[in-house]
Amino acid sequence: MTVLAAPLTAEEVSAFWRDGFLVIPRLAGEQEIAQMREVYDQLFARRAGREEGMQFDLAGPDDEETPAALPQILMPSTYAPELLTSELRGRALAVARQLLGPEAAETGDHAINKPPRSTATTPWHQDEAYWNPEQDHRALSIWIPLQDVDTTNGCMEFLPGSHTGDVLPHQSIGNDPRVHGLELAEPIDTSAAVACPLPAGGATVHFSRTVHFTGHNQTDEPRRAYIMSFALPPTPRTDGRSFPWLDARKTARAARAAAAGQTREPGPRAE
Ligand code: NI
Repeated sequence: MTVLAAPLTAEEVSAFWRDGFLVIPRLAGEQEIAQMREVYDQLFARRAGREEGMQFDLAGPDDEETPAALPQILMPSTYAPELLTSELRGRALAVARQLLGPEAAETGDHAINKPPRSTATTPWHQDEAYWNPEQDHRALSIWIPLQDVDTTNGCMEFLPGSHTGDVLPHQSIGNDPRVHGLELAEPIDTSAAVACPLPAGGATVHFSRTVHFTGHNQTDEPRRAYIMSFALPPTPRTDGRSFPWLDARKTARAARAAAAGQTREPGPRAE
Protein backbone atom coordinates (compact mmCIF):
# COMPACT_ATOMS: atom_id res chain seq x y z
CA MET A 1 0.00 0.00 0.00
CA THR A 2 1.42 3.34 -1.03
CA VAL A 3 0.76 6.22 1.37
CA LEU A 4 1.06 9.50 -0.50
CA ALA A 5 2.91 12.36 1.17
CA ALA A 6 0.35 15.16 1.21
CA PRO A 7 -2.61 14.80 -1.15
CA LEU A 8 -4.46 17.89 0.14
CA THR A 9 -3.64 21.54 -0.47
CA ALA A 10 -3.09 23.89 2.50
CA GLU A 11 -6.45 25.50 1.61
CA GLU A 12 -8.21 22.13 1.82
CA VAL A 13 -6.67 21.41 5.22
CA SER A 14 -7.77 24.76 6.63
CA ALA A 15 -11.24 24.39 5.10
CA PHE A 16 -11.60 21.03 6.88
CA TRP A 17 -10.77 22.54 10.26
CA ARG A 18 -12.94 25.61 9.62
CA ASP A 19 -16.05 23.71 8.44
CA GLY A 20 -15.62 20.24 9.98
CA PHE A 21 -15.84 18.60 6.56
CA LEU A 22 -14.20 18.61 3.15
CA VAL A 23 -15.21 17.52 -0.35
CA ILE A 24 -12.58 15.67 -2.38
CA PRO A 25 -13.80 15.65 -5.99
CA ARG A 26 -11.72 12.59 -6.93
CA LEU A 27 -10.15 10.02 -4.60
CA ALA A 28 -10.66 6.79 -6.59
CA GLY A 29 -10.55 5.84 -10.25
CA GLU A 30 -13.41 4.43 -12.31
CA GLN A 31 -11.92 0.95 -12.45
CA GLU A 32 -11.37 0.88 -8.68
CA ILE A 33 -14.95 1.94 -8.03
CA ALA A 34 -16.33 -0.65 -10.46
CA GLN A 35 -14.39 -3.42 -8.68
CA MET A 36 -15.48 -2.23 -5.26
CA ARG A 37 -19.11 -2.09 -6.37
CA GLU A 38 -18.96 -5.75 -7.39
CA VAL A 39 -17.44 -6.83 -4.05
CA TYR A 40 -19.91 -4.64 -2.17
CA ASP A 41 -23.00 -6.06 -3.86
CA GLN A 42 -21.80 -9.61 -3.21
CA LEU A 43 -21.31 -8.87 0.49
CA PHE A 44 -24.88 -7.59 0.84
CA ALA A 45 -26.32 -10.38 -1.34
CA ARG A 46 -24.82 -13.03 0.95
CA ARG A 47 -25.58 -10.97 4.08
CA ALA A 48 -21.97 -11.23 5.19
CA GLY A 49 -21.57 -10.97 8.97
CA ARG A 50 -25.30 -11.31 9.67
CA GLU A 51 -25.05 -14.14 12.20
CA GLU A 52 -22.37 -12.48 14.26
CA GLY A 53 -24.09 -9.11 14.43
CA MET A 54 -21.82 -7.33 11.97
CA GLN A 55 -24.57 -7.01 9.32
CA PHE A 56 -27.81 -5.43 10.48
CA ASP A 57 -30.49 -2.84 9.88
CA LEU A 58 -29.19 0.54 10.98
CA ALA A 59 -32.59 2.22 10.96
CA GLY A 60 -35.15 -0.50 11.81
CA PRO A 61 -35.81 -3.20 14.42
CA ASP A 62 -33.49 -5.62 12.58
CA ASP A 63 -35.72 -8.66 13.06
CA GLU A 64 -36.07 -11.34 10.39
CA GLU A 65 -39.65 -10.32 9.46
CA THR A 66 -39.14 -6.63 8.70
CA PRO A 67 -37.32 -5.75 5.46
CA ALA A 68 -34.17 -3.81 6.36
CA ALA A 69 -34.67 -0.05 6.07
CA LEU A 70 -30.95 0.67 5.94
CA PRO A 71 -28.68 -2.39 5.65
CA GLN A 72 -25.20 -1.90 7.09
CA ILE A 73 -22.10 -4.11 7.31
CA LEU A 74 -19.43 -3.33 9.89
CA MET A 75 -15.86 -4.18 8.93
CA PRO A 76 -16.71 -5.37 5.38
CA SER A 77 -12.99 -5.79 4.68
CA THR A 78 -13.05 -8.70 7.18
CA TYR A 79 -15.40 -10.50 4.80
CA ALA A 80 -13.78 -9.27 1.58
CA PRO A 81 -10.04 -8.90 2.30
CA GLU A 82 -9.42 -7.73 -1.26
CA LEU A 83 -10.74 -4.36 -0.08
CA LEU A 84 -7.65 -4.05 2.14
CA THR A 85 -5.20 -4.02 -0.72
CA SER A 86 -6.79 -1.28 -2.80
CA GLU A 87 -4.68 1.76 -3.59
CA LEU A 88 -7.61 3.85 -2.48
CA ARG A 89 -6.79 2.80 1.10
CA GLY A 90 -3.33 4.30 0.89
CA ARG A 91 -4.75 7.53 -0.49
CA ALA A 92 -7.37 7.68 2.27
CA LEU A 93 -4.74 7.09 4.99
CA ALA A 94 -2.61 9.88 3.54
CA VAL A 95 -5.58 12.27 3.72
CA ALA A 96 -6.25 11.22 7.33
CA ARG A 97 -2.63 11.70 8.37
CA GLN A 98 -2.45 15.08 6.73
CA LEU A 99 -5.53 16.20 8.71
CA LEU A 100 -5.04 14.46 12.07
CA GLY A 101 -1.28 13.95 12.17
CA PRO A 102 1.18 11.14 11.46
CA GLU A 103 -0.15 8.92 14.26
CA ALA A 104 -3.55 8.59 12.61
CA ALA A 105 -4.44 4.97 11.86
CA GLU A 106 -7.39 3.24 10.29
CA THR A 107 -9.95 2.13 12.88
CA GLY A 108 -12.30 0.24 10.60
CA ASP A 109 -14.58 0.38 7.61
CA HIS A 110 -18.29 0.01 7.06
CA ALA A 111 -20.83 -0.07 4.29
CA ILE A 112 -24.27 1.54 4.24
CA ASN A 113 -26.49 0.43 1.38
CA LYS A 114 -29.57 2.60 1.07
CA PRO A 115 -32.19 0.61 -0.88
CA PRO A 116 -33.93 2.00 -3.99
CA ARG A 117 -37.03 4.10 -3.22
CA SER A 118 -36.13 3.96 0.47
CA THR A 119 -37.97 6.22 2.88
CA ALA A 120 -35.21 5.84 5.50
CA THR A 121 -32.98 8.80 6.12
CA THR A 122 -29.81 8.68 8.16
CA PRO A 123 -30.97 11.33 10.64
CA TRP A 124 -28.81 14.21 11.91
CA HIS A 125 -26.17 12.88 14.27
CA GLN A 126 -22.55 13.10 15.42
CA ASP A 127 -20.41 9.99 15.09
CA GLU A 128 -18.77 10.48 18.48
CA ALA A 129 -22.18 9.81 20.09
CA TYR A 130 -21.65 6.10 19.22
CA TRP A 131 -18.34 5.81 21.05
CA ASN A 132 -16.96 5.37 24.55
CA PRO A 133 -17.90 8.55 26.46
CA GLU A 134 -15.03 8.05 28.89
CA GLN A 135 -12.52 8.80 26.17
CA ASP A 136 -11.68 11.83 24.04
CA HIS A 137 -11.71 11.07 20.34
CA ARG A 138 -9.99 12.76 17.45
CA ALA A 139 -11.28 10.90 14.45
CA LEU A 140 -12.56 11.37 10.93
CA SER A 141 -14.43 9.38 8.34
CA ILE A 142 -13.94 9.27 4.61
CA TRP A 143 -17.27 8.58 2.90
CA ILE A 144 -17.02 7.22 -0.63
CA PRO A 145 -20.08 6.77 -2.85
CA LEU A 146 -19.85 3.91 -5.35
CA GLN A 147 -22.11 5.74 -7.81
CA ASP A 148 -22.87 9.41 -8.38
CA VAL A 149 -24.75 10.95 -5.45
CA ASP A 150 -26.86 14.06 -4.96
CA THR A 151 -29.84 14.95 -2.78
CA THR A 152 -32.13 12.60 -4.74
CA ASN A 153 -30.30 9.46 -3.56
CA GLY A 154 -28.78 10.45 -0.22
CA CYS A 155 -25.55 12.41 -0.58
CA MET A 156 -23.88 13.63 2.61
CA GLU A 157 -25.12 16.87 4.20
CA PHE A 158 -23.13 18.67 6.88
CA LEU A 159 -23.70 21.50 9.33
CA PRO A 160 -20.60 23.71 8.96
CA GLY A 161 -18.80 24.55 12.19
CA SER A 162 -20.74 21.99 14.25
CA HIS A 163 -17.52 20.07 14.95
CA THR A 164 -16.38 22.74 17.42
CA GLY A 165 -19.22 22.13 19.88
CA ASP A 166 -19.89 19.37 22.41
CA VAL A 167 -21.53 16.05 21.71
CA LEU A 168 -25.27 16.85 21.74
CA PRO A 169 -27.88 14.57 23.37
CA HIS A 170 -28.81 11.63 21.09
CA GLN A 171 -31.34 8.80 21.12
CA SER A 172 -31.98 5.69 19.04
CA ILE A 173 -33.71 6.57 15.75
CA GLY A 174 -37.41 7.11 16.47
CA ASN A 175 -36.54 6.75 20.17
CA ASP A 176 -36.83 2.96 19.64
CA PRO A 177 -34.12 1.24 21.72
CA ARG A 178 -34.20 -1.76 19.33
CA VAL A 179 -32.66 0.48 16.66
CA HIS A 180 -28.86 0.69 16.46
CA GLY A 181 -28.76 4.03 14.60
CA LEU A 182 -28.71 7.27 16.58
CA GLU A 183 -30.27 10.68 15.97
CA LEU A 184 -30.12 14.03 17.75
CA ALA A 185 -32.67 13.93 20.56
CA GLU A 186 -33.77 17.55 19.94
CA PRO A 187 -34.28 19.22 16.56
CA ILE A 188 -31.62 21.76 15.62
CA ASP A 189 -31.53 24.53 13.03
CA THR A 190 -30.11 22.91 9.89
CA SER A 191 -30.91 25.80 7.52
CA ALA A 192 -27.17 26.40 7.04
CA ALA A 193 -26.49 22.74 6.13
CA VAL A 194 -24.41 22.04 3.02
CA ALA A 195 -25.35 19.14 0.72
CA CYS A 196 -22.36 17.56 -1.04
CA PRO A 197 -23.22 15.98 -4.40
CA LEU A 198 -20.33 13.90 -5.75
CA PRO A 199 -19.38 11.80 -8.74
CA ALA A 200 -18.51 8.13 -8.12
CA GLY A 201 -14.88 8.17 -7.02
CA GLY A 202 -15.22 11.41 -5.09
CA ALA A 203 -15.32 11.49 -1.29
CA THR A 204 -16.30 13.58 1.67
CA VAL A 205 -14.28 13.74 4.88
CA HIS A 206 -15.88 14.69 8.19
CA PHE A 207 -14.67 15.09 11.76
CA SER A 208 -16.08 12.93 14.54
CA ARG A 209 -18.25 15.76 15.96
CA THR A 210 -19.54 17.24 12.71
CA VAL A 211 -23.35 17.05 12.60
CA HIS A 212 -24.41 15.22 9.41
CA PHE A 213 -27.31 13.57 7.60
CA THR A 214 -28.25 11.73 4.41
CA GLY A 215 -31.71 11.91 2.87
CA HIS A 216 -34.03 9.39 1.23
CA ASN A 217 -32.96 7.42 -1.80
CA GLN A 218 -35.63 8.46 -4.29
CA THR A 219 -34.02 6.63 -7.22
CA ASP A 220 -34.38 3.09 -8.60
CA GLU A 221 -30.75 2.18 -7.81
CA PRO A 222 -29.24 1.38 -4.42
CA ARG A 223 -27.15 4.18 -2.89
CA ARG A 224 -23.94 2.41 -1.98
CA ALA A 225 -21.59 4.17 0.42
CA TYR A 226 -18.26 2.78 1.63
CA ILE A 227 -16.75 4.48 4.67
CA MET A 228 -13.25 4.28 6.11
CA SER A 229 -12.55 5.70 9.56
CA PHE A 230 -9.28 6.96 10.99
CA ALA A 231 -8.32 8.21 14.44
CA LEU A 232 -5.57 9.18 16.78
CA PRO A 233 -5.32 6.95 19.86
CA PRO A 234 -8.17 7.97 22.21
CA THR A 235 -7.23 9.58 25.51
CA PRO A 236 -9.08 9.10 28.84
CA ARG A 237 -11.49 11.78 30.08
CA THR A 238 -11.80 12.47 33.77
CA ASP A 239 -15.05 14.46 33.81
CA GLY A 240 -17.44 11.50 34.11
CA ARG A 241 -19.08 12.10 30.72
CA SER A 242 -21.83 9.56 29.98
CA PHE A 243 -23.92 8.74 26.90
CA PRO A 244 -27.18 7.32 28.36
CA TRP A 245 -28.52 6.61 24.85
CA LEU A 246 -25.92 3.86 24.48
CA ASP A 247 -26.95 2.21 27.78
CA ALA A 248 -30.62 2.38 26.73
CA ARG A 249 -30.07 0.50 23.46
CA LYS A 250 -31.14 -3.16 23.29
CA THR A 251 -30.54 -4.31 19.73
CA ALA A 252 -30.85 -7.64 17.96
CA ARG A 253 -27.38 -6.96 16.57
CA ALA A 254 -25.88 -6.94 20.08
CA ALA A 255 -27.75 -10.15 20.97
CA ARG A 256 -26.46 -11.93 17.85
CA ALA A 257 -22.91 -10.73 18.52
CA ALA A 258 -23.10 -12.01 22.11
CA ALA A 259 -24.53 -15.39 21.00
CA ALA A 260 -21.73 -15.76 18.45
CA GLY A 261 -19.07 -14.81 20.99
CA GLN A 262 -18.25 -11.80 18.82
CA THR A 263 -16.51 -9.42 21.19
CA ARG A 264 -14.89 -7.32 18.50
CA GLU A 265 -16.20 -3.79 18.69
CA PRO A 266 -15.31 -1.62 15.75
CA GLY A 267 -13.43 1.43 16.96
CA PRO A 268 -14.53 4.99 16.49
CA ARG A 269 -16.42 5.01 13.25
CA ALA A 270 -19.16 6.84 11.39
CA GLU A 271 -22.62 5.54 10.70
NI1 NI B 1 -22.27 9.28 10.75
